[in-house]
Amino acid sequence: MKRIVLLSLTVALPALAETPAQLLNGYVTEAAKAQPGFAPSAERGRQFYVERRSTSDKMPSCSTCHTDEPVAAGKHVITNKRIEPIAPIAGSKRFTEPAKTEKWFHRNCKEVVGRDCTAGEKADLLRFLLTKSGA
Ligand code: HEC
Repeated sequence: MKRIVLLSLTVALPALAETPAQLLNGYVTEAAKAQPGFAPSAERGRQFYVERRSTSDKMPSCSTCHTDEPVAAGKHVITNKRIEPIAPIAGSKRFTEPAKTEKWFHRNCKEVVGRDCTAGEKADLLRFLLTKSGA
């Protein structure tokens, strides 16, 4: 079981991605396997980001911690710790380390959505965040 989980994680990882755009391409390629012709949508990404779910009372949406304005610094709803803007703005390291990105997608999606996010959802979200940061 453990091996299967690890294996699917490896496959989902766009291995050599280094820029947010490359990471996005990796998710699009992955999503297109399940849904041929998949094209990422910033609008779907925005909806996904602000959607309030009932999995957790404390953290109903991604924007609960990352704020409604993804180019602004966020704040952890429980620890109150500052979170660097989730959108990859100039000079930030956002979405440049695939392992880090996957780790947090896994954790935050489980907490907020109640399951892992799909490659399509990740692609939409990244498309949205890139639009916000001017790319
Ligand atoms: C309880 C607060 C909280 C919520 C809610 C939350 N996050 Fe996060 N998120 C964090 C923290 C803390 C980090 C890691 C610290 C950092 O990178 O600044 C993080 C980092 C991330 C990263 C890493 C980005 C990178 O590559 O640098 C992604 C992706 C992410 N979150 C996606 C999401 C998504 C998608 C949702 C909604 C489904 C969400 N988060 C909801 C707190 C939160």
